[in-house]
Amino acid sequence: MSRPQLFHPHERIPREGYWIHLMRREQLDQVLDLEARAFEHPWSPELVARELEQDHSMILVISSEDRVAGFVIAWLVVDELHILNVAVDPSLRRRGLARLLLGELLDRAQRCGMSLATLEVRVSNEAAIRLYEGLGFRTIGLRRRYYADGEDALVMQRTF
Ligand SMILES: CC(C)(COP(=O)(O)OP(=O)(O)OC[C@H]1O[C@@H](n2cnc3c(N)ncnc32)[C@H](O)[C@@H]1OP(=O)(O)O)[C@@H](O)C(=O)NCCC(=O)NCCS
Repeated sequence: MSRPQLFHPHERIPREGYWIHLMRREQLDQVLDLEARAFEHPWSPELVARELEQDHSMILVISSEDRVAGFVIAWLVVDELHILNVAVDPSLRRRGLARLLLGELLDRAQRCGMSLATLEVRVSNEAAIRLYEGLGFRTIGLRRRYYADGEDALVMQRTF
């Protein structure tokens, strides 16, 4: 299957003093560093790097002066957007950066004719659940013991 293109590889979208764009190779270390700082159970560097090789996978970042402030990893499968991972630098939280980044991704997905966005989130992750609800996601189910440590996941979905 050919790679679905929501964003052009060289496109940089200006938003409130930041840029939103596809991650460049040289930003991988910053994304890995942020992943390690943002999560108690971070993805391994190999797992993140592997996403770059997948045709259906994209890493979109929000950055300022080449510093990665946040990122989202998403899969595009036919007309579905699946959000796998979102993180914002701990020192830059609660300034609307995740909302800006995901809002841009969802707007673009809608304009490109996708019909659905889905994600899983830890039941304990109140910040992320509020964020997703604010972006129009609704809980449609529960996956028991979805995470390696045994925690359940909420399944959330937004239609376009
Ligand atoms: C979840 C996360 C990405 C939010 O990033 P952020 O840039 O701080 O979020 P925003 O500033 O865009 O917040 C948007 C909305 O989300 C909700 N929200 C964000 N952080 C919140 C918190 N700590 N408590 C409650 N609600 C929160 C609020 O509704 C907020 O709107 P408001 O500030 O107008 O009230 C960030 O906390 C993070 O990186 N957490 C660790 C990684 C993670 O858990 N990722 C999600 C699972 S994949």
